[in-house]
Amino acid sequence: VPAAPRTIHDLATPALLVERSAFEHNRATMSAARPGANLRAHVKAFKSTAVARILHDAGHRTFCAATVKEVVGLASAGLGDDLLLANEVLDARRLGAVVRGGNRVTLAVDSDVTMRAAAEGGVPEVLIDVNVGLPRCGCDPGDAGRLADLARSLGLTVRGVMGYEGHLMDWTDRARQAEEVERSMALLLAAHGDVGGDIVSAGGTGTFDINTWANEIQAGSYLFMDTHYAKVGLPFVEALSLLTTVISVNRAGGWAVVDGGLKALAMDHGNPSYAGGEVFFCSDEHTTIVPAPDQPVAVGDRVRLAPAHVDPTIAKHPVLWVVDGEDVVDSWAVDLRDW
Ligand SMILES: Cc1ncc(COP(=O)(O)O)c(C=O)c1O
Repeated sequence: VPAAPRTIHDLATPALLVERSAFEHNRATMSAARPGANLRAHVKAFKSTAVARILHDAGHRTFCAATVKEVVGLASAGLGDDLLLANEVLDARRLGAVVRGGNRVTLAVDSDVTMRAAAEGGVPEVLIDVNVGLPRCGCDPGDAGRLADLARSLGLTVRGVMGYEGHLMDWTDRARQAEEVERSMALLLAAHGDVGGDIVSAGGTGTFDINTWANEIQAGSYLFMDTHYAKVGLPFVEALSLLTTVISVNRAGGWAVVDGGLKALAMDHGNPSYAGGEVFFCSDEHTTIVPAPDQPVAVGDRVRLAPAHVDPTIAKHPVLWVVDGEDVVDSWAVDLRDW
């Protein structure tokens, strides 16, 4: 790959592409709906300080993260105005060092043990993480007030509550989805009544418009989208694709093989999609496609696949190539990968 590739034909494949106009449409659409601190963008979706800086420059200075490394990396990049680790950790010492470096870090806690880890690690501010229906982290809503009291007795500041309604993100029946989100958020608001503080943090790409109870929305996928979220009918468009090269064509069988497979694509939401035909199956380093009869491909052609799940797909790649059609116009390092 040349130091500054000019077109997609200069890139080694497989390579992840971001269509600049689609990304910009998504960014602007969310910014209009959820301006400033109304969006606490979730960097786990893209793991890139370059992307976080674009949001910061657009007025979104608060971020949330899923790993300690994401918090450390954002702070090192000068983006540490207000970072939430929206996840439980048992060793908060690296976060404490970030706080001592002059950054603001808030930690989600859902138990006495994680609370004490925050205090012992030197993180002075917490959010009480409340379970609102997703079988994952979060305390029982009825225990939130007790945890907040414990936090204050340990000298911590309680900024409020968070409760991620992740089980409600990808519903296509949006009227029913809204009813369920209301039920989930009733749990969170009841807990907030017991906890106090200014923050009610929840939501994601799939509920950014209907979760009117949270005062900050934790969304990240919306910037890139994937075929899974695309089915929901949100006002965001697919900006991400995997650039591959056709390495073999079987004319008699009607299939072709490209050089990117399940090691370059997250598969937990299923196969990628191919606009010029069908995806037959993926293997480690191959995807077998069935081109539409009127769209045959030849060995050496470049073919784009649409990923089914954005976050873990991006986490497999060191760089996002920003493109305008076939022109490569920028690159964003995926510098917050790993832990
Ligand atoms: C804690 C938390 N908040 C918010 C989100 C929403 O992110 P997305 O933009 O992918 O919907 C997630 C995604 O899994 C999450 O884990």
